[in-house]
Amino acid sequence: MSKRIEAKNLDIYYGKFKAVEDVSMVIEPRAVTAFIGPSGCGKSTFLRSLNRMHEVINGAYVEGELLLDGHDLYGPGVDPVNVRRQIGMVFQRPNPFPTMSIKENVLAGLRLNNKRMPGREQDEVCEKALRGANLWEEVKNRLDLPGSGLSGGQQQRLCIARAIAMAPDVLLMDEPCSALDPISTLAIEDLIQELKANYTIVIVTHNMQQAARVSDSTAFFNIAGTGAPGKLIEMGPTEQIFSTPEKQETENYITGRFG
Ligand SMILES: Nc1ncnc2c1ncn2[C@@H]1O[C@H](COP(=O)(O)OP(=O)(O)O)[C@@H](O)[C@H]1O
Ligand SMILES: [Mg+2]
Repeated sequence: MSKRIEAKNLDIYYGKFKAVEDVSMVIEPRAVTAFIGPSGCGKSTFLRSLNRMHEVINGAYVEGELLLDGHDLYGPGVDPVNVRRQIGMVFQRPNPFPTMSIKENVLAGLRLNNKRMPGREQDEVCEKALRGANLWEEVKNRLDLPGSGLSGGQQQRLCIARAIAMAPDVLLMDEPCSALDPISTLAIEDLIQELKANYTIVIVTHNMQQAARVSDSTAFFNIAGTGAPGKLIEMGPTEQIFSTPEKQETENYITGRFG
């Protein structure tokens, strides 16, 4: 568990539109890396390219190299389904399957991957994932009730449990708290801190306080203007990015001055 990601000169396209240009970065294991930057600068696009979710969009593709512990994720013969099993994703809005119970939701990814698992083992995986997502105590007596009956914050932790159940190496989270109240947000932030002991974690956030609170490294993306591709402006230890960034552009953004 927990692997290093290295992107080398990654360009990301939607058909003819180049949405992200020439991003090179290293994402360290057992750490939280935050992506910040204005809306439309390609944070979600870059995040989705990290587990080959980007290419499910018609006409979307990537150029450049992306390595997971040295293995090229876009190499010939690499199965994108396998990549997505190793690199899990949690979305902006909690999206439990509404007709499934809590337990079925946790195991949903495993089922999709066609793993036949005896009932006792299913119970164990379910409990471990829910404990890992800090949700077990709250739901252990209602595992067979619908996941949609949980609060927003619980649903997001359920989605994290679903991702964890796959035993991934990396967890990608795209603004996982943007639909949550402050208390649930803190619960997710605490959880992220715990999870980083075992996973490589990447979080997109529009909330700079959140980036400062939860991340070890911060990457700042920006765009020159409408239609221009998003670019990585600078990346470094979070403390340094928020106190003494190297680029004026970063400084302007983190102090709330644009342009
Ligand atoms: N499915 C898509 N098809 C075409 N263009 C897209 C799609 N998703 C995002 N884009 C475009 O890619 C650029 C980057 O978007 P996005 O990655 O969502 O930025 P961010 O997450 O930083 O707000 C934007 O110009 C956006 O309009
Ligand atoms: Mg986004």
